[in-house]
Amino acid sequence: MTKKILLSGVKPTGRPHLGNYFGAMKQWLDMQNDYQCMFFLADYHALNFIQNGKELKQEIFDLVLDYLAIGLDPQKSLIYKQSDIPEHTELTWIFDTITTMPYLERAHAYKDAMANKKEINVGTFNYPMLMAADILMYDADVVPVGADQKQHVEYARDTAEKFNRIFSEIFKLPEAKILESVATVPGTDGRKMSKSYGNTIPLFASSAEIEKSVMSIVTDSSGDRPENVYAIHKLLRSDIDSLYEENKGKYKILKEALIEDLKKFIAPLREKREQLAEDKEYVLDVLKEGGKRAKARAEKKMDVVREAIGVKLY
Ligand code: ADP
Ligand code: TRP
Repeated sequence: MTKKILLSGVKPTGRPHLGNYFGAMKQWLDMQNDYQCMFFLADYHALNFIQNGKELKQEIFDLVLDYLAIGLDPQKSLIYKQSDIPEHTELTWIFDTITTMPYLERAHAYKDAMANKKEINVGTFNYPMLMAADILMYDADVVPVGADQKQHVEYARDTAEKFNRIFSEIFKLPEAKILESVATVPGTDGRKMSKSYGNTIPLFASSAEIEKSVMSIVTDSSGDRPENVYAIHKLLRSDIDSLYEENKGKYKILKEALIEDLKKFIAPLREKREQLAEDKEYVLDVLKEGGKRAKARAEKKMDVVREAIGVKLY
């Protein structure tokens, strides 16, 4: 029986945090054996945020290290970066021509950007179409992401349907897979943990960083249980209810317990990452190989697409 195709990626735009891990990456690990997995780095999406060559290069290398350190296995999964497969941007253009402005104007990410900034680049506006290309190129069945990306996967579905209707049945309709129990991990300020809010606990944090960020978690003084501390703690251990029951209102003790558990959880990940960082050649080879294999698949798919839209004459 052939395995279903699972595809996901993140942007190389800063250190991953517990929200990324529990909202997205952890699901990937659990699925590596059951699906044919494709994990990529959305470096062209990142270009909307990082416009400095040296910095982006470093971010890309760092993210491959992160992927390998958490346990993504290049023997089982395809690991590659988006920019190694120019077919993604080609397909984006094709999707642009069948997509309307009002439809893209309804995207949450665009609306949020509009609310915060005066001027938005075309790449940000068009973000969901590049993401649709990332997903549809490889006939992905499932796309595990955090809850905030659900709408983007729906955009990919809609785009597949529209293309199939206009041209021919070429694209498979993908499903988003959201792990509801950890749908949104709170940050130290109680809002969604996010790089853009500066409220993260990094996945590879040093002991000092763990202590500092946990101590800064905002606690609601009206209740007995510090909800933000509890929500993060619960991700690490399911058996903490009695601890919180016994220490009602004792925020310092509970924070210290969280610090201990975070240290235990993070130390082995951080050590593995440090080891991998020593072997730069191996890390780059993983990316290069994955890129080649993904490109071969993308080339095949684009051949069919070009035929369907009528630009392939020989
Ligand atoms: P950030 O908001 O920090 O920029 P990204 O947008 O790069 O994070 O998200 C990468 C992946 O991690 C996405 O699948 C996203 O849904 C997931 N994710 C990010 N933050 C959280 C969170 N606080 N809780 C759950 N999942 C999250
Ligand atoms: N937009 C996603 C994020 O911010 C990253 C991404 C780009 C992605 N293309 C994708 C995720 C395709 C899943 C599938 O996290």
